[in-house]
Amino acid sequence: MNFKILLIDDNAKNLQVAMGILSKEGYNLVYAQDGEKGLELAKSGDIDLILLDIIMPKLDGYEVCKKLKLHETTKEIPVIFLTVKDEEQDIITGFEEGGIDYVTKPFYTEVLLKRVKTHLNLSKTTKELQHLNENLEQQVQQQVQSLRLKDQVLFQQAKMASMGEMIANIAHQWRQPLGAISATTLGLKTKFALDKFELDNEQGIKKCKKQVDEKLDDIENYVNILSNTISDFRNFFKPQKDLNVFESASVIESSLKLLSYTLQNGDITIVKDINSVKITGFESELSQAVINILNNAKDALNEQEDLKKFIFISTKRIENEAHIIIKDSAGGIKSENKKDIFKPYFTTKIENDGTGIGLWMSREIVENHMGGKIEAKNVTYTYENEELKGAEFTIKIPISIKK
Ligand SMILES: Nc1ncnc2c1ncn2[C@@H]1O[C@H](COP(=O)(O)OP(=O)(O)OP(=O)(O)O)[C@@H](O)[C@H]1O
Ligand SMILES: [Mg+2]
Repeated sequence: MNFKILLIDDNAKNLQVAMGILSKEGYNLVYAQDGEKGLELAKSGDIDLILLDIIMPKLDGYEVCKKLKLHETTKEIPVIFLTVKDEEQDIITGFEEGGIDYVTKPFYTEVLLKRVKTHLNLSKTTKELQHLNENLEQQVQQQVQSLRLKDQVLFQQAKMASMGEMIANIAHQWRQPLGAISATTLGLKTKFALDKFELDNEQGIKKCKKQVDEKLDDIENYVNILSNTISDFRNFFKPQKDLNVFESASVIESSLKLLSYTLQNGDITIVKDINSVKITGFESELSQAVINILNNAKDALNEQEDLKKFIFISTKRIENEAHIIIKDSAGGIKSENKKDIFKPYFTTKIENDGTGIGLWMSREIVENHMGGKIEAKNVTYTYENEELKGAEFTIKIPISIKK
C-alpha cells in the first residue's frame, strides 16, 4: 500500500530534510508551508498521516490540529507533531490537541522513519478493524432480519396446521343453527301445506303474519350465529398488528368456543374460575397461545384411558399482571421432556403429526410480543375429593404493554 503523508512546516529546510528521509521509503508525499494550506490539502485528499510543525506564523500547529480533529473527513488522520525542543509542555499540549506522537528536530532518520511506520501501520489496522466491525454489524442485522422472517413463516405455518381442526370446530358450530333454520322453514312450509292457517278471514291472516314474523326473527338470529362464528374464525387467522383493549375472560371464552367441538368430543369437562382482567395487548395472539395450551391438554387427556378428564382454567389479576392458568388431569409432562417442551420442533407426538411448534409459539407470543412470562410445572391437587395430577401452564402478562 502506498501511503500518502502530508508535511506541514513553514521552514523550507526542515521540509527538505524530512521529505528526503521519507521519499527514500517510497511514501507519497505532499506538503504545505502554512497551516491554512495544510488544512486544505488534508481535506482534499486521502491523507494517511500528517507531520505537523508546532511553531508557524498565523495558524500554529496546535490550531491546525484542533481544526483537523473537528472536521469529519480529517478527524481520523493521525497527527505527529514536529517540535524543535522536546520541552515537556509542548508535548503535553500536542497530545491534548489530538496528536498521537511527536518527533524532535533536528531529525534522526531512524527515529522519524520508525515513528511514521508505526503510526501508519496502526492506523491501517484500526481502519481494517472498523471496516470489519461495520461488516459484522451489517451481517448480524441481516441474520436477525432473516430469523425474524423465519419466525413469521413458522407462525403462519403453525396457524395453518391448526386450521383443519378449526374448520371441524366451525363446521360443528354451524350444524346446530343450520339444523334449526332448516327445521324452522320446514315447520312453516308444512303449516302452509296443511292449510293450518285460516287465511280467509282477517284474524287468521293476522295470526299467520305474526307466526311467520316470529319464525323469520328466529332464522335471522340463527344466521347471525353463523356469521359470528365465521368472524371468530377470521379474526383468529388474521395477523394482529394493533394493540386492543380486551378482557382476559373473553380470550378464554373465544378460545373455548373455537375448540368446543374437539373438547366435547373428547369428553373433557372444563372447570372455570374467572376473575376477568382488562388487558391492553394483542387479543387474537393471546387466544392463539391459550388455544395451543388447551390443545396440548386435550391431546394429553385423550392419550390416557380410565382417567377423569378435566381442564381447569382460571384468570385473575396479580399486581399489574393478568394471569391465565390452565391445568389438566392427564398426569403431567414427563420429567425427561420438561426442559425441551418450549423448544421449536420438540414433539412427542410423532405418530399424530405433532409439529412441536405449539408451545414455542405460545412462548414467543407471551414473552416476546407481550412482554410477559409463560411457565409450566406438574401439579398434584384435589378436586371433588379426588386426587388429580397434571400439567399446569401459567401465562403472566402485563395488563398494559410498554411499546
Ligand atoms: N399438558 C401437557 N401434558 C403433558 N405433556 C405436554 C403437555 N403440553 C405439552 N406437552 C409436551 O410438550 C411437547 C411440545 O408441545 P408443543 O405444543 O410445542 O408441540 P406438540 O403438541 O407436540 O405439537 P403440535 O402443537 O404441533 O400439535 C408435546 O409433544 C408434549 O410432549
Ligand atoms: Mg401442541
